[in-house]
Amino acid sequence: MQQINSYKSTVFIGDDTFIYLQEILEKQFADSSIVFVLVDSNTLNHCLPVLINNVPFLANAEILEVESGEASKSFEILAGLIEAMSAMNADRKALLINLGGGVICDLGGMLASLYKRGINYINVPTSLLAMADASVGGKVAVNVANIKNIAGVFNPPSFVFVNPVFLQTLNEQEWLSGYAEILKHALIQSKEHWEKLKSKNLFLTDNWSDVLFHSISIKNNIVLNDPFENNERKLLNLGHTIGHGIESFMIENNLYVSHGEAVAAGILIESYISLKQGFLNENDFSSIKEVIQKYFEKLNFKVQNTDSIIAYLYNDKKNEGDAISFVLLSEIGNAHINKSASINEIKAAIEFYVNLN
Ligand SMILES: NC(=O)c1ccc[n+]([C@@H]2O[C@H](COP(=O)([O-])OP(=O)(O)OC[C@H]3O[C@@H](n4cnc5c(N)ncnc54)[C@H](O)[C@@H]3O)[C@@H](O)[C@H]2O)c1
Repeated sequence: MQQINSYKSTVFIGDDTFIYLQEILEKQFADSSIVFVLVDSNTLNHCLPVLINNVPFLANAEILEVESGEASKSFEILAGLIEAMSAMNADRKALLINLGGGVICDLGGMLASLYKRGINYINVPTSLLAMADASVGGKVAVNVANIKNIAGVFNPPSFVFVNPVFLQTLNEQEWLSGYAEILKHALIQSKEHWEKLKSKNLFLTDNWSDVLFHSISIKNNIVLNDPFENNERKLLNLGHTIGHGIESFMIENNLYVSHGEAVAAGILIESYISLKQGFLNENDFSSIKEVIQKYFEKLNFKVQNTDSIIAYLYNDKKNEGDAISFVLLSEIGNAHINKSASINEIKAAIEFYVNLN
């Protein structure tokens, strides 16, 4: 088991984390008035039995279930959960365990932050994306009117238990979704990690605990330096300016895309902007293009959709005033915040992506 100390939170990573979860629940949460486990329809079937079998403390926990998918990250769902907890007379000594992907971690984090002005919560991420990224760092949010993560707070979980055992039931699309964030972490800060990832086949990787430890460590070092995203933490938005625009556009048009697939496209498009601005060299750009194209199929939007995608960029939380703000790369392992690009540069980069073979 490996441990990472995060901002107001401890992350345990490994195949044996259930032992520590049981121990911590017994030692630190024995006097919880009620314990809830928040799941979605998939993690209810695939992950809850594994958790309960391995962590006897949770045998009598109350289960809160929501539909799987991004649509559950809403104030309507949040209000329903608050009502359900209140109907069970939950007080401020209630404990919430989030068992699921990024949607459950974000929704549950909001629930724990708002219920009676805040209760303790623990994340047990079950998707690769949630393990590598969403469960760590304390940012939680819901969506409003198709605008991703527009309403949220910073409130870290007390603990995060990352156990790769849950990955066994994840489908290929969700694997890839998480892998995009793992690639992102390497691109931002570690050429060495990038080269390691590049030399491996994602689907043949056996030591996920190690990959996750490196990936979470990169994110965590950034979060520790800037927990409230005033500066350095914005680095973690590499690929997300365009990625969020694509994701919002596709959701609005009922075209399914996972968060990570949109981010992977965003990374490639933003790398193209970096290249065209003379910031990133050809070799590094080719390496990024090769890896993204190896794993991620091109998303199904068209040149005619460019303006609609760009319209979403104006809602990005990183923007200040009217300027659209990007994270751009000067080389693999070296990203820079508060970069800008003209509308023409953005359009050309989206067109480059659409015209890829
Ligand atoms: N707060 C943050 O720092 C942060 C960072 C990155 C992403 N996010 C958010 O995370 C969300 C995306 O996360 P996600 O990709 O995990 O989405 P998700 O939670 O919807 O999970 C993806 C799918 O996998 C299923 N699933 C999860 N674990 C499973 C398992 N072990 N076996 C089988 N199926 C399983 C889910 O039910 C869902 O259908 C987005 O809303 C994004 O905004 C948050």
